[in-house]
Amino acid sequence: MPEGDRSVLEVRDLNTVFRTRGGEVHAVNSVSFDVERGELLGVVGESGSGKSVTMMSLIGLLPMPPAEIRSGEVLLDGEDLLKVSPKRLREVRGGEVGFVFQDPMTSLNPVFPVGFQIAEPLRRHMGMTKAQARERSVELLELVGIPGARGRLDDYPHQFSGGMRQRVMIAIALACEPKLLIADEPTTALDVTIQAQILELVHDLRDRLGMSIVWITHDLGVIAQIADRVLVMYGGQVVEKAPVKPLFNDPRHPYTRALLKTIPSVTGARQPKLETIEGQPPILGAAPSACPFRDRCPLAFDRCHRENPAREVVAPRHDVACFHPSAHDPSKIGAEVAA
Ligand SMILES: Nc1ncnc2c1ncn2[C@@H]1O[C@H](COP(=O)(O)OP(=O)(O)OP(=O)(O)O)[C@@H](O)[C@H]1O
Ligand SMILES: [Mg+2]
Repeated sequence: MPEGDRSVLEVRDLNTVFRTRGGEVHAVNSVSFDVERGELLGVVGESGSGKSVTMMSLIGLLPMPPAEIRSGEVLLDGEDLLKVSPKRLREVRGGEVGFVFQDPMTSLNPVFPVGFQIAEPLRRHMGMTKAQARERSVELLELVGIPGARGRLDDYPHQFSGGMRQRVMIAIALACEPKLLIADEPTTALDVTIQAQILELVHDLRDRLGMSIVWITHDLGVIAQIADRVLVMYGGQVVEKAPVKPLFNDPRHPYTRALLKTIPSVTGARQPKLETIEGQPPILGAAPSACPFRDRCPLAFDRCHRENPAREVVAPRHDVACFHPSAHDPSKIGAEVAA
């Protein structure tokens, strides 16, 4: 396969800011990554690191203003989504790209029954008749574990519990068998059994349809279980990117290492708290001119306070944004004590 054909999505140098009364908030800073066909890309990082804003920027879901996408490219099979018409973007959302966000702004519409909300995209994007779309809606609701699915088509969102609504959202996201699914903390509100079922369902769809998935979560246990590759975000930047095994076995960024230390063992660990790393996450303001992790980093030296490290390749498909030698050469980790 030619190199360019491997990626369904390529994000290049994305910069998103919010204009607020207190000044500009640089929420996404030069973020670049790609999503390969059929892969599950896990995204981790503590609260406020820019995970949701990054993903919402991709498919035009941010309120503009206050948000503004300053620069970047978002290539979905070569088509730059930052340049297409609003009409085309609506076609992409719920068609080629399915999404589940934590943000209530983008969740279910309270004035329509859920059956209609699932069936609508099926008719619009898949050309189904009303009857076909209704049948498929029942199947999808069953698939995500809604009991008595057929009898619930005419119910409104407020008649479902939070967890059930989340499942309906997932059913809608999967309805058109998207080539890319963006899932932002989609299962945190659900109990463990349903979580496992949904992960299995998503895996199955990926295998069957070659769907690519971006999965944002705070749960490193889930990442270890389901991801092929992982992006680690900090302070609105991607600080490390690697296939899942090297990420867990050979993390290079001091933040990633700190993150992994917060879980005693990856297997069996549930909902580890990312926030247990000492110190405060950075307050995002002006464009970063230094390493965002410097104030919490045990290895920071003068350069980290003056310059923001660019990401560099340290191993196959593994890159890291850090000046410290141990990030580039793990045999230098012992030197950290002296650093
Ligand atoms: N409407 C807004 N106006 C101003 N700043 C915003 C707005 N929305 C988000 N931000 C800022 O953008 C930054 C990134 O937020 P984002 O929601 O992407 O974080 P996150 O990594 O998804 O966190 P979480 O894990 O809590 O969901 C934060 O500093 C947040 O304060
Ligand atoms: Mg978020």
